Amino acid sequence: MKTNNIVFIGFMGVGKGTVARALVKRSDYFAVDTDDLIESLENKSVKKIFKHEGEKYFRALEKKCALWCEKNLQNTIISTGGGFYKQENINNIGTVIYLQSDFNRIIEALKLAPNSKKKFKKRPLLKDLKEAKKLYDVRIKEYEKVSDITINVEDWDINRITKEILQKVN
Ligand code: S3P
Repeated sequence: MKTNNIVFIGFMGVGKGTVARALVKRSDYFAVDTDDLIESLENKSVKKIFKHEGEKYFRALEKKCALWCEKNLQNTIISTGGGFYKQENINNIGTVIYLQSDFNRIIEALKLAPNSKKKFKKRPLLKDLKEAKKLYDVRIKEYEKVSDITINVEDWDINRITKEILQKVN
Protein backbone atom coordinates (compact mmCIF):
# COMPACT_ATOMS: atom_id res chain seq x y z
CA MET A 1 0.00 0.00 0.00
CA LYS A 2 1.33 3.46 -0.88
CA THR A 3 1.13 5.45 2.36
CA ASN A 4 2.72 8.67 1.14
CA ASN A 5 4.42 8.95 4.52
CA ILE A 6 7.92 10.31 5.05
CA VAL A 7 10.00 8.78 7.84
CA PHE A 8 12.97 10.80 9.08
CA ILE A 9 15.82 8.85 10.58
CA GLY A 10 19.21 10.05 11.77
CA PHE A 11 21.34 10.62 14.81
CA MET A 12 20.16 12.31 18.00
CA GLY A 13 20.01 16.07 17.68
CA VAL A 14 20.40 16.18 13.89
CA GLY A 15 17.11 18.09 13.58
CA LYS A 16 14.53 15.50 12.48
CA GLY A 17 11.69 17.23 14.33
CA THR A 18 12.73 20.70 13.18
CA VAL A 19 12.88 19.64 9.52
CA ALA A 20 9.50 17.88 9.88
CA ARG A 21 7.88 21.05 11.25
CA ALA A 22 9.41 23.16 8.49
CA LEU A 23 8.11 20.73 5.86
CA VAL A 24 4.59 20.85 7.29
CA LYS A 25 4.59 24.62 6.77
CA ARG A 26 5.55 24.13 3.11
CA SER A 27 3.24 21.22 2.22
CA ASP A 28 -0.03 19.44 3.00
CA TYR A 29 1.60 16.86 5.25
CA PHE A 30 0.77 16.43 8.92
CA ALA A 31 3.57 15.39 11.28
CA VAL A 32 4.07 13.18 14.33
CA ASP A 33 7.14 12.29 16.37
CA THR A 34 7.65 8.75 17.66
CA ASP A 35 9.21 9.90 20.95
CA ASP A 36 6.21 12.19 21.52
CA LEU A 37 3.80 9.33 20.80
CA ILE A 38 5.63 7.08 23.25
CA GLU A 39 5.75 9.78 25.92
CA SER A 40 2.01 10.38 25.67
CA LEU A 41 1.29 6.65 25.70
CA GLU A 42 3.31 6.19 28.89
CA ASN A 43 2.64 9.64 30.31
CA LYS A 44 6.35 9.77 31.02
CA SER A 45 9.42 11.36 29.42
CA VAL A 46 11.81 9.23 27.37
CA LYS A 47 14.46 10.09 29.94
CA LYS A 48 12.34 8.67 32.76
CA ILE A 49 11.37 5.59 30.75
CA PHE A 50 15.10 4.88 30.25
CA LYS A 51 15.77 5.49 33.92
CA HIS A 52 12.88 3.52 35.43
CA GLU A 53 12.04 0.81 32.91
CA GLY A 54 15.28 0.64 30.92
CA GLU A 55 16.27 0.85 27.27
CA LYS A 56 14.87 -2.57 26.37
CA TYR A 57 11.42 -1.52 27.48
CA PHE A 58 11.74 1.70 25.47
CA ARG A 59 12.71 -0.27 22.35
CA ALA A 60 9.63 -2.46 22.78
CA LEU A 61 7.51 0.70 22.85
CA GLU A 62 9.23 1.86 19.66
CA LYS A 63 8.23 -1.43 18.07
CA LYS A 64 4.62 -0.98 19.12
CA CYS A 65 4.74 2.55 17.74
CA ALA A 66 6.26 1.38 14.43
CA LEU A 67 3.47 -1.17 13.94
CA TRP A 68 0.87 1.46 14.75
CA CYS A 69 2.41 3.94 12.29
CA GLU A 70 2.39 1.35 9.51
CA LYS A 71 -1.25 0.51 10.09
CA ASN A 72 -2.67 3.95 10.71
CA LEU A 73 -0.74 6.78 9.09
CA GLN A 74 -1.01 8.35 5.66
CA ASN A 75 0.30 11.61 4.23
CA THR A 76 2.29 12.10 7.42
CA ILE A 77 5.87 13.03 8.20
CA ILE A 78 7.14 10.84 11.00
CA SER A 79 10.19 12.07 12.86
CA THR A 80 11.76 9.27 14.86
CA GLY A 81 14.16 8.73 17.72
CA GLY A 82 17.74 7.99 16.68
CA GLY A 83 17.34 4.24 17.28
CA PHE A 84 13.98 3.78 15.56
CA TYR A 85 15.65 2.87 12.26
CA LYS A 86 16.09 -0.66 13.64
CA GLN A 87 12.38 -1.39 13.36
CA GLU A 88 11.90 -4.25 10.92
CA ASN A 89 8.85 -2.69 9.27
CA ILE A 90 10.36 0.78 8.82
CA ASN A 91 10.31 0.59 5.02
CA ASN A 92 6.63 -0.35 5.08
CA ILE A 93 5.80 2.85 6.97
CA GLY A 94 6.88 5.20 4.20
CA THR A 95 9.80 6.69 2.29
CA VAL A 96 12.73 6.64 4.69
CA ILE A 97 14.87 9.77 4.61
CA TYR A 98 18.19 9.82 6.41
CA LEU A 99 19.15 13.28 7.68
CA GLN A 100 22.91 13.24 7.74
CA SER A 101 25.45 15.40 9.53
CA ASP A 102 28.91 15.11 10.95
CA PHE A 103 29.00 14.14 14.66
CA ASN A 104 30.92 17.22 15.82
CA ARG A 105 28.58 19.54 13.95
CA ILE A 106 25.58 17.97 15.67
CA ILE A 107 27.16 18.35 19.10
CA GLU A 108 28.35 21.91 18.45
CA ALA A 109 24.88 22.96 17.21
CA LEU A 110 23.30 21.42 20.31
CA LYS A 111 25.78 23.27 22.52
CA LEU A 112 24.90 26.56 20.82
CA ALA A 113 21.13 26.02 20.94
CA PRO A 114 19.22 28.39 23.27
CA ASN A 115 17.91 25.52 25.42
CA SER A 116 21.11 23.52 25.10
CA LYS A 117 21.16 22.07 28.62
CA LYS A 118 17.67 20.67 28.21
CA LYS A 119 18.51 19.18 24.83
CA PHE A 120 21.39 17.20 26.33
CA LYS A 121 19.54 16.31 29.51
CA LYS A 122 16.56 14.75 27.78
CA ARG A 123 18.81 12.36 25.79
CA PRO A 124 20.24 9.61 28.02
CA LEU A 125 22.49 8.33 25.22
CA LEU A 126 24.19 11.72 24.88
CA LYS A 127 25.38 11.75 28.49
CA ASP A 128 28.78 10.36 27.60
CA LEU A 129 30.00 11.96 24.36
CA LYS A 130 32.72 9.34 23.80
CA GLU A 131 30.10 6.59 23.92
CA ALA A 132 27.79 8.67 21.74
CA LYS A 133 30.53 8.99 19.09
CA LYS A 134 30.96 5.20 19.08
CA LEU A 135 27.21 4.79 18.62
CA TYR A 136 27.32 7.36 15.81
CA ASP A 137 30.11 5.47 13.99
CA VAL A 138 28.12 2.24 14.09
CA ARG A 139 24.84 3.82 13.14
CA ILE A 140 25.88 5.95 10.17
CA LYS A 141 26.41 2.81 8.11
CA GLU A 142 23.08 1.37 9.23
CA TYR A 143 21.14 4.59 8.55
CA GLU A 144 22.45 4.50 4.96
CA LYS A 145 21.35 0.91 4.55
CA VAL A 146 17.70 1.36 5.55
CA SER A 147 17.13 4.75 3.92
CA ASP A 148 15.67 5.44 0.48
CA ILE A 149 17.05 8.98 0.36
CA THR A 150 19.91 10.73 2.15
CA ILE A 151 19.84 14.46 2.75
CA ASN A 152 22.88 16.27 4.09
CA VAL A 153 21.74 18.91 6.59
CA GLU A 154 25.11 20.31 7.65
CA ASP A 155 24.56 23.77 6.13
CA TRP A 156 21.27 23.96 8.04
CA ASP A 157 19.68 25.91 5.17
CA ILE A 158 16.08 24.96 5.91
CA ASN A 159 14.76 26.28 2.57
CA ARG A 160 17.26 24.21 0.59
CA ILE A 161 16.66 21.13 2.77
CA THR A 162 12.86 21.20 2.52
CA LYS A 163 12.98 21.94 -1.22
CA GLU A 164 15.33 19.03 -1.83
CA ILE A 165 13.11 16.67 0.17
CA LEU A 166 9.92 17.70 -1.64
CA GLN A 167 11.62 17.35 -5.01
CA LYS A 168 12.89 13.89 -4.17
CA VAL A 169 9.65 12.47 -2.77
CA ASN A 170 7.38 13.83 -5.48
C1 S3P B 1 17.63 7.66 20.99
C2 S3P B 1 17.29 8.89 20.47
C3 S3P B 1 16.31 9.78 21.12
C4 S3P B 1 15.31 8.97 21.93
C5 S3P B 1 16.03 8.10 22.90
C6 S3P B 1 16.98 7.11 22.20
C7 S3P B 1 18.63 6.84 20.27
O1 S3P B 1 15.62 10.57 20.15
O2 S3P B 1 14.50 8.19 21.09
O3 S3P B 1 16.73 8.90 23.79
O4 S3P B 1 18.73 5.63 20.51
O5 S3P B 1 19.37 7.41 19.44
P1 S3P B 1 16.31 11.77 19.30
O6 S3P B 1 16.95 11.14 18.10
O7 S3P B 1 15.17 12.65 18.92
O8 S3P B 1 17.28 12.42 20.19
